[in-house]
Amino acid sequence: MPDTTINNHSKVALVTGAAKRIGAEIAQQLHAAGFNVIVHYNQSAAAAQELVDELNSERENSAAGLQADLNDHAQVLNLAQQSADQWQRLDLLVNNASSFYPTPIGEATHADWDNLINSNLKAPFFLAQALAPTLIKNHGCIINIADIYAQRPLRKHSIYSIAKAGNEMLTKSLAQELAPRVRVNGIAPGAILWPDDYYKKTEEQLSDENKEKMLAQIPLQQRGQVQDIARTILFLAKDAPYITGQIIVVDGGRTITI
Ligand SMILES: NC(=O)c1ccc[n+]([C@@H]2O[C@H](COP(=O)([O-])OP(=O)(O)OC[C@H]3O[C@@H](n4cnc5c(N)ncnc54)[C@H](OP(=O)(O)O)[C@@H]3O)[C@@H](O)[C@H]2O)c1
Repeated sequence: MPDTTINNHSKVALVTGAAKRIGAEIAQQLHAAGFNVIVHYNQSAAAAQELVDELNSERENSAAGLQADLNDHAQVLNLAQQSADQWQRLDLLVNNASSFYPTPIGEATHADWDNLINSNLKAPFFLAQALAPTLIKNHGCIINIADIYAQRPLRKHSIYSIAKAGNEMLTKSLAQELAPRVRVNGIAPGAILWPDDYYKKTEEQLSDENKEKMLAQIPLQQRGQVQDIARTILFLAKDAPYITGQIIVVDGGRTITI
């Protein structure tokens, strides 16, 4: 049984895919803002444990790690149940976890479809469904991380783009259905972190020249930082009581040039 003797009155956030990169920054900033944080991870157990230890060293019993493969529906439901049980409440669900890789039309498989749709769309829906009762009780909120490619597809990434387009509709649909007790919003990042693992996996190279070209297309002439996404999460969670059903684009102006 989790120790609930301390911090059981703090608001609680579940951040999926929070062991590293954008998710880890979101977890850290929510924690700094006073949330107890559930760091969900799948394969990155060591990184998740390191983050949980760091957060608990700052505030006792304020962070916990939970493992789940979002491709497995039973594990999704278990993640929701364990998250709600950890401190007997949940106030914020951040659907950040995502798989991302190309699926050219001639090569895409059923397994690719399931994998990309599960993490980016299906699991966010079923986590929201399972956690709706506790979110409703606590006047909570849901934030889904989409992508600028939800609106205009990324070439050779049809399944990912479809999944993120669905993710944006998920935001609007749930905002309608869970109002007035739960606000549901989305964030559509532009270029924040280069997807290094992805390039290793696909054996493609993102050359410095190509990086320069991509940056030149961004009006603000630089990539965003993980803090830009985490700050937007904090804004939506804490300072936006009259905003629901919206997707905030955080892309340095990239979408006005497409
Ligand atoms: N990076 C960018 O510039 C950028 C741009 C646009 C949109 N976004 C969106 O912003 C969010 C965060 O981006 P990111 O680049 O930080 O993400 P990422 O590193 O590519 O992925 C985040 C985490 O998702 C988890 N994940 C993937 N498949 C999973 C599965 N089947 N079950 C459970 N967890 C799974 C992984 O956890 P484990 O490592 O524990 O396995 C991974 O660490 C994503 O939703 C992404 O689509 C990012």
